[in-house]
Amino acid sequence: MTSTDAQFVRSLIDRAATPYRQAGKYAWHFARGKLGGDPAFAGLLERGLLTGRKRVLDIGCGQGLLSAWLLAAQACASEGRWPQAWPAAPSPEHVRGIELMQHDVDRADEALRTDVAQGRASFVAADMCTADFGQADAVVILDVLHYVPVAAQDEVLRRVRAALPPDGVLLLRIGDAGAGLPFRISNWVDFVVTTLRGHRLTKLYCRPLAEWQRVLASLGFAVQAQPMSQGTPFANVLLVAKPC
Ligand SMILES: C[S@@+](CC[C@H](N)C(=O)[O-])C[C@H]1O[C@@H](n2cnc3c(N)ncnc32)[C@H](O)[C@@H]1O
Repeated sequence: MTSTDAQFVRSLIDRAATPYRQAGKYAWHFARGKLGGDPAFAGLLERGLLTGRKRVLDIGCGQGLLSAWLLAAQACASEGRWPQAWPAAPSPEHVRGIELMQHDVDRADEALRTDVAQGRASFVAADMCTADFGQADAVVILDVLHYVPVAAQDEVLRRVRAALPPDGVLLLRIGDAGAGLPFRISNWVDFVVTTLRGHRLTKLYCRPLAEWQRVLASLGFAVQAQPMSQGTPFANVLLVAKPC
């Protein structure tokens, strides 16, 4: 990334995080930290992974950061501020978030209340194992599936496949359980942070990259794996899965 692009990303982090001020100090600091520290957010834009996708579904959306990020990116591009070398900015008509924790949904609703009121974003408190996915052009699941047992993960993926049109895309980020120490670090951090955020977990249900690829292929996806943990000590991989 050039220094100009990096400067743009910093300004985008400010813009996407600012609405969280109205959801409280914690929500704002968390937004700044996550958007700045997680390479997925800038990576999605730089690689054009959501370019042209009108209906975006974010499963396990937390406080709605992906929605805030995409809407801020869209606003910047409409003002003519967009890195020249990057693919076109996302231009979603609607971003929908499903999240288990009510307090996260409340923060998302509070921060993005204008977009929610204008019908550009919506958030629902629900369990992904039972929630209606509706139809979407892109489904994003970042670091979420390992909270539920393997059979439930497969069922979520089966329903995601059914929710996508033939030219849709699933962006699934997983921790590669076969990656040794970086995986153990990410698993430990995940367990601690998730417990602090109010989940009552007894274990996480992680799988090696090859198994994720096999499951997705068996459900009718063509899968491409992209590293998505640059600048962190973690073993995260982004799977770009398209119906085939
Ligand atoms: C590690 S956080 C990732 C949040 C967001 N995807 C991101 O990347 O910023 C995992 C999120 O998944 C949510 N989650 C866990 N189990 C869930 C379930 N069964 N249904 C819906 N959301 C769930 C958690 O509450 C948490 O907000």
